[in-house]
Formats: sequence, structure tokens, C-alpha cells
Amino acid sequence: VSPLLTPTPDARATADAVARACGRSVHEVTLVLGSGWSEVVVGLADPGTAVTIPMADLPGFAPPSAAGHRGTVTSCLVDGVPLLSVAGRSHLYEGLGTDPVVHPAHVAAAVGSDVLVLTNAAGGVRDGLAVGDLLLISDHLNLTGRSPLTGAAFVDLVDAYSPRLREAAAQALRAATGTRPGEGVYAAMPGPQYETPAEIRMLRTLGADLVGMSTVPETVAARGLGLRVLALSLVTNLAAGVTGQPLDHAEVLAAGSAGAGRLIGALRALVPAVARG
Ligand code: 6GU
Repeated sequence: VSPLLTPTPDARATADAVARACGRSVHEVTLVLGSGWSEVVVGLADPGTAVTIPMADLPGFAPPSAAGHRGTVTSCLVDGVPLLSVAGRSHLYEGLGTDPVVHPAHVAAAVGSDVLVLTNAAGGVRDGLAVGDLLLISDHLNLTGRSPLTGAAFVDLVDAYSPRLREAAAQALRAATGTRPGEGVYAAMPGPQYETPAEIRMLRTLGADLVGMSTVPETVAARGLGLRVLALSLVTNLAAGVTGQPLDHAEVLAAGSAGAGRLIGALRALVPAVARG
């Protein structure tokens, strides 16, 4: 099936700049590192293979946010597989529209990736989830009110999160970590506020297991671009009303960093598995 979207000119220019900087013209897998996952980039690469480029030197990424952080794009090998990783995504709640949010998906297509791996920090909605749980996203609820395809095309989202990649990832993660990851339905909210307890009860009724503010626009764009998608949520906190605790962004980030070593092991196993899968 031919893709309904083609990479934007900014994504093609980014791919050209990446190829010039690292000497690799094809990256089999592109990985987007969400909140709490960014530290993983340091330990992920086969030694001596990483080339890092500031987003500021590449077109199409959002300008610096109020929080100050600018991201990086890193080309490396993981167990010999060429990987492009993007650390520091933009979110709909930054108010810049869907273009910068889905730019990494367009870059993935432009650098020749067949697989896009998306990671995020999520709140646990389903009973029984615990902080630190790693789940494969099996499906989503797009509650953002936005689509990156507005004005473009109709895109099928059955099996948007590739069952074959989920199986390959689950086997690799079980081998690497000793536990087979669970799966869950991810509800994407516009943010930036966290939900009320009533909204979390609503999401549970709608069939959500996880809640967050990312990943869904990227997945929709990636399916339009003809990429296969694998998405992982790290449960960094339980959603509103599940415990009596208030939610705090610093805690979300801290829970991610605390698990960094485990996440590196998981991703080093996962990248070659999905490249073959
Ligand atoms: Cl509880 N809600 C949302 N919208 N995003 C989150 C979250 C909760 N926890 C981490 N990210």
C-alpha cells in the first residue's frame, strides 16, 4: 500500500543534515524519547557509534520552550542496527499546532526508517498498575480534539500499533528484563493540566488503561506515512483519584530517571528485535 503522506520538506532537510553529520544515510529504526526517557540515550549506543546533533541546528523542530530545554537528535548503532533517536519532543499543549509534534514521524520516514518507536511517561488509569510498570500500547483514544491529518487524507487505524512488533518487543523484553510487558489502551489528553478524578473515572469507563499528553498525533502521522509503530508507556504515577496524592511534573520526571538503567536494557534488546520483526 502506498503511503498517503510524504515527508515534509523540513523532514527531508533534517534527514540530509543528519546524513552529513553522521555519514549514515539510512536509519532502520527511529526512536522518540518522551518525558523521563531522555537519559536513556547515553547508554543506548554501541560504544563509539553515537553522533549527537542539537535540534537547534535542524529545521522543523519547535523553538525552545519556556522550560528552557532544547532537545537533541542522535545517530548511533544498537547491536549493529542504525538508530536515530530524538530526545525532547514537542507537545500539543505548547500551542504550536501539530506540525512540530509530528516532525519526528516525518523525519523517521525521511531517514528511511520502517519502524517508529515512541516512548512516553503515562499515568496509570487501570486498577492494578504500579509506578515503574512498562506497557506496550495496544490501541488509543484520541481525546486531543486534534489531528495531524486535517486537510490531508483518510488513514486506517486498525492495528495502528503493529501486533507483530508488539509480539517481537514482548519477547525481547521478557528475555532482557525477565518479565513480559503488559499492554494497554492509551488515552491522549490535550493538557497541560492533569485530569480531575471525575475525568479519570470517565476515561476508565471509556476503556483507557493509561493517560498522557503525547504519542497519538505521532502515531496517526506515522500511519499516514506508511511506518509501522511500536509505543511504550512507562507508568510514572497513578492517575488522579487512584491514590490520594496530588500530581506533580517533577515526580513524573523523577520516576523516569529512577528507571533509566532498566529502560536502557529494555531498549537495547528491543531495537534489534523490532528491526528484524
Ligand atoms: Cl495522570 N495525566 C496526563 N494527562 N499525563 C500524564 C499523567 C497523567 N501522568 C504522566 N503523564
